[in-house]
Amino acid sequence: MSHSSKAQIYIDSNRTISSISPLVFSGFLEHMGRAIYEGIYDPASPHADANGLRTDVLAALREINYRSIRYPGGNFLSGYRWLDGVGPRDQRPRRRDLAWQSIETNQFGTNEFIDFCKQINTEPMLGVNLGTGTIQEAADLVEYCNAPAETKFAQLRAEHGYPDPHNVKYWCLGNEMDGPWQIGHLEAEEYGLKAREAAKMMRWHDPDINLILCGSSNAYMPTYPDWDRTALEICWDAVDYHSMHHYANNRDNDTSSFLALAAEFEGYVDTLASVLRYVKAKRRSKHDVYLSWDEWNVWYKATTPSDFRGGWTEAPHLSEEIYNVEDMLVVAQWMNVFLRRADVIKIACVAQSVNVISPLHTTRDGILKHTTYYPIMLFSQLASGAALDVAVKSPRYETPKFGDMPLLDVSASYDETTGKSALFIVNRSQTDSLPVELNWQALSPRAISAVHQISGTNPKAVNSFENPFNIAPVRVAPPVVQDGRAELVLPPLSFTVVETDLA
Ligand code: AHR
Repeated sequence: MSHSSKAQIYIDSNRTISSISPLVFSGFLEHMGRAIYEGIYDPASPHADANGLRTDVLAALREINYRSIRYPGGNFLSGYRWLDGVGPRDQRPRRRDLAWQSIETNQFGTNEFIDFCKQINTEPMLGVNLGTGTIQEAADLVEYCNAPAETKFAQLRAEHGYPDPHNVKYWCLGNEMDGPWQIGHLEAEEYGLKAREAAKMMRWHDPDINLILCGSSNAYMPTYPDWDRTALEICWDAVDYHSMHHYANNRDNDTSSFLALAAEFEGYVDTLASVLRYVKAKRRSKHDVYLSWDEWNVWYKATTPSDFRGGWTEAPHLSEEIYNVEDMLVVAQWMNVFLRRADVIKIACVAQSVNVISPLHTTRDGILKHTTYYPIMLFSQLASGAALDVAVKSPRYETPKFGDMPLLDVSASYDETTGKSALFIVNRSQTDSLPVELNWQALSPRAISAVHQISGTNPKAVNSFENPFNIAPVRVAPPVVQDGRAELVLPPLSFTVVETDLA
């Protein structure tokens, strides 16, 4: 692969796509493997605070600044009895978790999760069990969390030490209910009817909650996108968001196609956005439903049977994927898609947050940030305001799966309240540096405030406890801006963020 020409990016502060929902920078925590136990909660760690929370993990999560965290699952949710996880710890049952064939001690539950969210200033997003759970249990959990302490379940919360309501705003109506692997799997119509009735009761307890319907588990399900259409037709007026999940892989070791996966992500969004438009029109509705991409990540290396089955042990090592440079570039372009489709994607949760398919890895006394931690952190810290519709002229390259693709994958944000703008650029070339000309139209910066860059010559390079900053952002000298133009050279296999103040 050899490319000699130059690329151009045109940034026009008037060409806004939509405001960026801060909730697209969210995470996910499931009772799976070592996500909770030995991940965020580990009383035996030298880093634990008085409540058993890992202070080093809290610090990393504050830095990455997830606006919300989805909990407690995942497949775990569909067999979870929420009452097991509240009240005095010594009275909580040990149970067999059928989803991950692990032992669940219930030492961490809803109230501990809410306390954890407060510690990192994030909005809790709770799931209700629509697998083995009833619509009554779903409604009871809303009463427990959000009602004043005057009736049975809300009083129980007060007895457990929380007199004030938690006011949980975001609620998922089950998890991946289209999947035959799901405990209590349902057909689309059965699910739609159950979700609608659960939603009705939950809202009667608290009319201000936001509800997220289960969409297809991925775009390869045989029932996709019919499942989505059916569930939405039944639930349209009862819900606010529709979920989508996807895990990307490079099983064929076809790096040039893997690096072009934004095309697949955008296709998935296009289809579901069309389903949303279709159902809205069919229902003659003025109500809008947005997409919640509430599980997304790269996941294919840690997928042996022992990555899914815990052998009936506590906190087994499940799906502890290690992320490399090419994974980091896929994560970066996934987040570019969140900006480019900011009109319809309003929630996105990286799956997951610690140890299990996660950018963070813990040992009892240490923490490691994988390559993917950094693009998530840069987007979360620097993308705000509105997404801009940038025009990109890029040399192209051939991929086995997607044909001819541009070498550059780009998104941009502009916050008119602060004047801050950020440009996010992935160079997919595995071999060549690419000069790029940045052209500002309408507002233009006097200077570039910072350029952050993550790159690696080997797509398989990783971080490790021995070499923790092997792949991490570096600051490169900002190029001069003259007459609204600047020129940068993008190394191969790189992700670059350009920060400016537009005036
Ligand atoms: O994130 C791991 C699992 O992947 C979740 O439990 C499930 O929802 C998905 O299939």
